[in-house]
Amino acid sequence: PLKVGIVGVTGAVGQEIISVLHKRGFEVSELKLFASARSSGKPMDTPFGSLMIEEFELEAARSCDVLFLAVSGDFALEWVPKLTAEGGPLVIDNSSAFRYDDSVPLCVPEINADVARKSKKRLVANPNCTTAIALMALAPLHKLFGIKRCIMSTYQAASGAGAPGMRELEEGVAAMSRGEKAENSVFAHPLPFNVIPHIDKFLDDMYTKEERKVTWETRKIMGMPDLLVSCTCVRIPTLRAHAEAITIECEKPVDVAAAIEALKNSPGVKVTDDPAANIYPMPLTATGQYDVEVGRVRKNDVFGDYGLDLFVCGDQLLRGAALNAVLIAEAVA
Ligand code: HSE
Repeated sequence: PLKVGIVGVTGAVGQEIISVLHKRGFEVSELKLFASARSSGKPMDTPFGSLMIEEFELEAARSCDVLFLAVSGDFALEWVPKLTAEGGPLVIDNSSAFRYDDSVPLCVPEINADVARKSKKRLVANPNCTTAIALMALAPLHKLFGIKRCIMSTYQAASGAGAPGMRELEEGVAAMSRGEKAENSVFAHPLPFNVIPHIDKFLDDMYTKEERKVTWETRKIMGMPDLLVSCTCVRIPTLRAHAEAITIECEKPVDVAAAIEALKNSPGVKVTDDPAANIYPMPLTATGQYDVEVGRVRKNDVFGDYGLDLFVCGDQLLRGAALNAVLIAEAVA
């Protein structure tokens, strides 16, 4: 059993990490819950019992065997060097602070656990949720057909902006149903009954940072530094599962039946693809599930025999964050 710490335990991802650790039977000798001074000193009900939330403190955090960071990139930049100095815990960081550092593994365990296991660093970066969900489907297809280029359009839930995002959506829906105006501060515009093609900040090349995270992280996790990936990331008024429409062009001619068979045999993937029965991936069915749903698998007119279209949906807080982080701990700790 390991001594486990979670920093950012009052946030949506921190909460899910506790739940996933318990549901997966992760052997925990002691669980330490860290948060900001504002939330510390209060008890929290967890499946491991009622535990006191502590203010983050370096030596207490360093005493853990595994430490999950579910906080901001600024916090990670400040504390990770001190946490991982000689003798510190295995740190699994959910922020983007170290994802693009060549010496830090970026891991979706079903795809590249070996990179994290072999790393000398006691730090593993947990990927962007959108990327982790897409790659669960793309990695097995790449093995079969060799992916050459990729175009994605995402439909991202409010949970990607954390508990405040979910609250803003729920309160906005309630306000609008009373005939009042929906307020927005988390999202650039009111989200209820809307879609917003803007997640994170705009970069000089007119992509958003969220869109470029998909490009950069897909390349790193797949070990394909030159892969062409274009993405449009869109926020939609769902609560916690992200959906993505993906088009790939492949090196080899594609075979739909072989693609579906490979996806069915991939751990962490659930093929949900029976259009005649109105069965395909949806946030409604993917929410709360560990597996990423994949469906609408079909040949693509534009790329002919070399093109495949698919639709995926995964729980952003689970595969896109907490589950992926716990799987990293299971693979590496
Ligand atoms: N950036 C993602 C989103 C969530 O806003 O949906 C975290 O990976």
